[in-house]
Amino acid sequence: MANKAFGFHIVDYYYHQHYKDGKWLEPIFTSNPNIDIEMSATSLHYGQQAFEGMKAFKRKDGGINLFRPLENAKRFRMSCRRMMMPEVSDEQFMYAVTETVKRNTKHIPDYDPSMSLYVRPFMIGTGHNLGLRPAPSYFFGVVVAPVGIYFNGDSAGKFLIVDDDRAAPNGTGLYKVGGNYGGAIKIQFDAKSQGYEDALFLDPATHQYLDEFGGANLFGIKHNTFYTPKSSSILKSITNDTLKILAKDVLGLDILETQIPLTDIETFDEMAACGTAASVAPIGSLTYQEKVYHISESMGPVTKKLKQLLLDIQYGNIKDDYGFQFNVTL
Ligand code: PLP
Ligand code: COI
Repeated sequence: MANKAFGFHIVDYYYHQHYKDGKWLEPIFTSNPNIDIEMSATSLHYGQQAFEGMKAFKRKDGGINLFRPLENAKRFRMSCRRMMMPEVSDEQFMYAVTETVKRNTKHIPDYDPSMSLYVRPFMIGTGHNLGLRPAPSYFFGVVVAPVGIYFNGDSAGKFLIVDDDRAAPNGTGLYKVGGNYGGAIKIQFDAKSQGYEDALFLDPATHQYLDEFGGANLFGIKHNTFYTPKSSSILKSITNDTLKILAKDVLGLDILETQIPLTDIETFDEMAACGTAASVAPIGSLTYQEKVYHISESMGPVTKKLKQLLLDIQYGNIKDDYGFQFNVTL
């Protein structure tokens, strides 16, 4: 049922809510996937917008789980604040997300650890305003789409390290805003056309340390330790945060958030991409300036355990002691 192209599928309902004259108007759920916006809207010209990415999972018992949705609500507020857009409260965010998911229940793939309903809340600046200043009005919407595997699944993929940057050293890399993604489309597209899964960006200040992918964080495993890049230009991934907790509590690993030099790649036993869309995707090799750094032929044992733990919590297969599972009641 999920299309191979990520998120390319028309569903039944979309959440629409406008913000005018300093307040949020009543939301509506509509089957109309289009919106009318002014040609001079700041979102169209200056990228005044922010978004979130979440998934709704169908459990074995037929119920529906979201995963740490309040973390998305918090990050969305942070991104909106950075873009000078109005904030959305936890209650408003949760209403928008849960009600959109409920109204599209029939599009949530049946229990399958590689399938889910992707949920994309977003905000854009609207209204007439060609000047470089915040928009006079805003639109908050939620789009959903059934999705399958984003990267290479469980096989260890080839990724390309690039010298182009997705974000500036003190820029907006740590916020989930469109400007970080638009410029990366060509870089990812070029990497894919050369046969790689995706492009991995380096830290934009020195190009000596691994940063992240255009749509996912990175982690590495060696010496009983879970390493993940420390950088002020990457998104704070909720998946990565969860893996750190599980790696420490369940697998007894040490956690090290630190700069990871390019030159250290081959010292790692395992490496993987992680994120909502990506889930956990093992990295087989990283190529930089024609040099191939080999990591592993297949998904390593620690990555495998972490992925399984994450999926078991997301799909409600195991008891969740952390309050990560959020049951959507129909
Ligand atoms: N990094 C970037 C640039 C992303 O777009 C995403 C996806 O949301 C992630 C990392 C992973 O973050 P999360 O695990 O919160 O989805
Ligand atoms: C997500 O994982 O939610 C993302 O936003 C990644 C996106 C580029 C598909």
